[in-house]
Amino acid sequence: MVVTDTTSINLFKVLAAALRVQATRDPSRKVIVSEASNFPTDLYIAQGLADLLQQGYSLRLVNSPAEIDAAVGADTAVLMLTHVNYKSGEMLDMAALTELAHARGALTVWDLCHSAGAVPVALNASKADYAIGCTYKYLNGGPGSPAFVWVAPALRDAFWQPLSGWWGHAAPFAMEPQYRPVDACAASCAAPSRSRRWRWSNAVSMCSRRPTWRRCARSRCS
Ligand SMILES: Cc1ncc(COP(=O)(O)O)c(C=O)c1O
Repeated sequence: MVVTDTTSINLFKVLAAALRVQATRDPSRKVIVSEASNFPTDLYIAQGLADLLQQGYSLRLVNSPAEIDAAVGADTAVLMLTHVNYKSGEMLDMAALTELAHARGALTVWDLCHSAGAVPVALNASKADYAIGCTYKYLNGGPGSPAFVWVAPALRDAFWQPLSGWWGHAAPFAMEPQYRPVDACAASCAAPSRSRRWRWSNAVSMCSRRPTWRRCARSRCS
C-alpha cells in the first residue's frame, strides 16, 4: 500500500496500469465497466483516460449491481467499482464480483473511499487487482489528507503508471533528467502534504490488523 497523491490521481494511475496489462494480454478488450451511480470523478477519470489514449476505449455503465453480470464480457478490460456506494451506502461483494470479472478475463479496480476505516476490506482474500481510496473520510485525515494505492502482489512487478513524477523517482533529490522508478511499484507522483498525516496514520494503525503502512509516502507497495 502506498499513501500518496489524491484518489482521482491514483485512479488514473491504476486504470492506466490495468489497461496496459490488458493491452498485452488481449488488445481487443476495450471496455471499462462501471456503475452510473459511481462517484462522478471515477467516471470522469475513466472518460478522460479513454480520450487520452485514443485507442477505442469506452465506458459501459450499469444502472444497478444486478446488471454487472450481463455487462462484463469478452470485450471488457476492467471492472471499475466503488466498494461502498457514496450515495446509497450499498456495499458490493468484492470477492464475488472479482471472481466474475476474472472468469471473463477482466481485471478489477476498487475504490475504497467509503470503505477504508469504516468496514473490513479483504483485498487479498477477494483476489482484487487494484485499489485506491482516501484517508480523509473514515480514516479521519480530514481535507488535504493523502490518498492511497494498492496493487495485487501478482501485478506489482509489471506495474507501470504514466504519472512518473519526481516522488516516484529512485533518487528524487538527485534531480536527474531521466526518470528512474523507485522500485517496480513506483506509484507516487508528487510530494505529499504531511500536515495531517498523524491523524490518518493513527487511524490506519487502529483499523489495520497488520499495520504495514510506512512513514514515508514514497514507500514500496506492501
Ligand atoms: C468514492 C469516491 N471516489 C473518489 C473521490 C475523489 O477523491 P479526490 O477528490 O481525493 O480525488 C471521492 C471524493 O469524495 C469519493 O467519495
